[in-house]
Amino acid sequence: MRLEVDSVSKEFAGLRALTDVSLQVDDGEILGVIGPNGSGKTTLINVISGVIPATAGEVRLDGTALTKLRSHQVARAGVARTFQNIRLFEDLTVLENIEAAASRSPRSRGWLRPRQASRDAIELLGLGPVADSIVDTLAYGIQRRVEIARAVATRPQVLLLDEPAAGLNEVESDEMLAVIGSVRSQYDLGILLIDHDLRLIMRVSERIHVLNEGRTLASGTPDEIRRDPGVIEAYLGLEEEHKHLKEEVSPHSSESEARNNPSVDAS
Ligand SMILES: Nc1ncnc2c1ncn2[C@@H]1O[C@H](COP(=O)(O)OP(=O)(O)OP(=O)(O)O)[C@@H](O)[C@H]1O
Ligand SMILES: [Mg+2]
Repeated sequence: MRLEVDSVSKEFAGLRALTDVSLQVDDGEILGVIGPNGSGKTTLINVISGVIPATAGEVRLDGTALTKLRSHQVARAGVARTFQNIRLFEDLTVLENIEAAASRSPRSRGWLRPRQASRDAIELLGLGPVADSIVDTLAYGIQRRVEIARAVATRPQVLLLDEPAAGLNEVESDEMLAVIGSVRSQYDLGILLIDHDLRLIMRVSERIHVLNEGRTLASGTPDEIRRDPGVIEAYLGLEEEHKHLKEEVSPHSSESEARNNPSVDAS
């Protein structure tokens, strides 16, 4: 399934949060979306997922317009999302949280299917040891994973992740990256991944879309983005940070090679 965002604009009472943004996410692809605070990243996910209507433009899934649908209809069409701020049932267990999401999904009807979808998601996200723990008692990084498991258990075609590594330390971010990679390969779904963590996003994404003040500043492969003068000036800014990114070139290249070669274990 291909998700297309076609010339989408969003205004909030005169404030232009998004202006004429177009992008695509294909099956099995991770599209990274980066941009400074307030550049419209969350607004983009809100528009795609039907939480807020676009002012102009269209969002399509395999050619079918999603733009006029409400959020539950977009979810039913196969687009799942996570939130920048964790939204879980804190008093329920991990398994109960995930099953609640899975059983609402028409993609997993019947009694066995939500249960199986939940079990699969728990296994994929490495949540087995905490499946029966109350969410509230778990570390923040684990709760972030439960959020992704909830989305995955609805068996979506496209997954929208709003800063899944926010608030995580470097080790946890790396684990999150591995998890996102395995979600993609296990389910062959398209993922739109928002993050401030350039290191993470450059390593895991095939393509990157850069927003600045609600407009597309650049879009391309991580290497193209890294070299883009507009990106360096407006977003990467400090030469120091640019240096740091250059150092990240090698792990990215070896990982993408591994990904394109099924016989090599990318993890
Ligand atoms: N519901 C809303 N009503 C009014 N203005 C909004 C609303 N949602 C977002 N905005 C404004 O739209 C702009 C883009 O916000 P958005 O949350 O999409 O940015 P972001 O790129 O996700 O930022 P961050 O990196 O801080 O999460 C901001 O100026 C924000 O204040
Ligand atoms: Mg945001």
